[in-house]
Amino acid sequence: MEVFELPQNLSQQVKSWKKQQQRIAFVPTMGNLHAGHLSLVEKAKTVADIVVVSIFVNPMQFSAGEDFDVYPRTLDADKQALENIGVNALFLPTNGTMYPHSVSRSTQVYVPEVSELLCGASRPGHFRGVTTIVNKLFNIVQPDVAIFGQKDFQQVAIIRQMVADLFLPVEIIALPTMREKDGLAMSSRNQYLAETEREKAGLIYQLMQEMSEKVKTGVDIASAESEAKSILKASGFQPEYFSFRDPVTLQPLQHIQPDMVLLVAAKLGNTRLIDNWLFSCEVGRNSA
Ligand code: PAF
Repeated sequence: MEVFELPQNLSQQVKSWKKQQQRIAFVPTMGNLHAGHLSLVEKAKTVADIVVVSIFVNPMQFSAGEDFDVYPRTLDADKQALENIGVNALFLPTNGTMYPHSVSRSTQVYVPEVSELLCGASRPGHFRGVTTIVNKLFNIVQPDVAIFGQKDFQQVAIIRQMVADLFLPVEIIALPTMREKDGLAMSSRNQYLAETEREKAGLIYQLMQEMSEKVKTGVDIASAESEAKSILKASGFQPEYFSFRDPVTLQPLQHIQPDMVLLVAAKLGNTRLIDNWLFSCEVGRNSA
């Protein structure tokens, strides 16, 4: 595995791979790799000849008071895991190379509306940071295909729109969330959970299952959402949203439709957990 720190060196290598007709898959990450990330890399290996992974904890997507400074950084272990799994290139840029004029003076890429909903409402500027850095990374790596985890459902929806709006020549693949035994979605932030919090954290998954079944069988969406939020509160979570949405526009739904996504964000102690459940509904007698 070759490690690149400078964008121009990686871009030069990419040019040479492209000359040799090699197809390039890209997995952008913020490091602290777990089985979920490695499953993205495994997928990348099946759809391209060359796999490039980036590790960059992107300051622009964290606002003041968030966990940028303490975000888990485990570079040696990450490098070893990527080497073992057969990644061709690892891109490890610095803040200075990605934001040469500082973060606040950098050009930004912004997808309106969908960036302001849900997580965008409680994390102002977060998705602007994500789309800006993903655009920069795509320009450096020039991938044919990029692989993301569906755990960050809203992030993937926003990136898909950015790619379509800007005619970026990259295919986006989203892979289903990898889960712990109790259903908790794998995330680098799970390690912030205290032991007693970790024991409770599987409740989000249970409630997503339960409430999606309820709406399928005729319980109205608003009641299912408010019941889930009450159960979460009673169990010590601070629910931010538990919301049935259209999977493409992410707009709220009043009635069931064939494809639906249930999006959830809740704090447990100081840890903010997000999750989602994509499901299909038979629209018939129970719909409006
Ligand atoms: O999902 C992440 O880890 C990050 O948001 C991403 C896509 C690597 C951009 O920094």
